[in-house]
Amino acid sequence: MVDPILSVRGVAKHFGGLKAVNDVSFDVLPQQIFGIAGPNGSGKSTLFNVMTKVPFGPTKGEVRLNGKSIMGLSAHRIALAGIARTFQRENVFASLSAIDNVVVAVESHLPNAPFAEQIERAEEALNLVGFPANMHNSPAGSLPIFYRKQLMIASALALQPKVLLLDEPASSLTGPEIERMKQIILRVRDNGMTVVLIEHVLGLLMEVSDQLLVLDQGVMIGKGDPITVTRDPIVIEAYLGVAHE
Ligand SMILES: Nc1ncnc2c1ncn2[C@@H]1O[C@H](COP(=O)(O)OP(=O)(O)OP(=O)(O)O)[C@@H](O)[C@H]1O
Ligand SMILES: [Mg+2]
Repeated sequence: MVDPILSVRGVAKHFGGLKAVNDVSFDVLPQQIFGIAGPNGSGKSTLFNVMTKVPFGPTKGEVRLNGKSIMGLSAHRIALAGIARTFQRENVFASLSAIDNVVVAVESHLPNAPFAEQIERAEEALNLVGFPANMHNSPAGSLPIFYRKQLMIASALALQPKVLLLDEPASSLTGPEIERMKQIILRVRDNGMTVVLIEHVLGLLMEVSDQLLVLDQGVMIGKGDPITVTRDPIVIEAYLGVAHE
């Protein structure tokens, strides 16, 4: 029996009277892709926020990495311990070049490494996501959306995480771009990382996820293998029956 690399136990986040995340528990095994779905406002991004303490930790509950609680760590230490994330909203440094965006992330992980090594690490992360070599020096703000998304993932990978949390990497992408994003996610996993993937693009989520969790109003309404979960009438009524952006 393989031990989970990531365990979320009874996690909750309350904003005043709003229970944005309410008693969520799940385990992710090493090198799994763990999908998270749910309607808008169901608490998916808040779950990533409390897992990484960016910008706040949970009201209740515990997150463990390789069996060890990370609750006592700061956001920076959690990232260094091995949980990196991307954000639903774009957060590239628009005026920096693509490679400098990633170097900034490498620096936070390896502040004392020689500059040449930092560049090398940044190039490795960009190569892993398939970012074109001839665009490394382009200003990030001028890049089309797909490349900016690649850059956000490369910046997270630059921290050499064990677990990568991706918040809607396929949003705003075209069909062919979603297929390319799928290949990136699979490549990250094939490189030894564990992936937790929030996505509204259900086709992508179903194709790559080993396990699927569905949230509704902060509560888990489905968890398990993706086909079984998406056939559950409760999940269909709460999520699959309605249209999403
Ligand atoms: N900082 C905050 N302060 C108060 N309420 C918040 C805060 N962050 C999130 N919420 C609320 O918590 C709930 C869950 O929001 P969250 O962003 O986690 O949803 P989501 O599932 O990621 O939605 P989407 O699919 O639209 O990205 C929403 O009702 C939201 O308004
Ligand atoms: Mg969200």
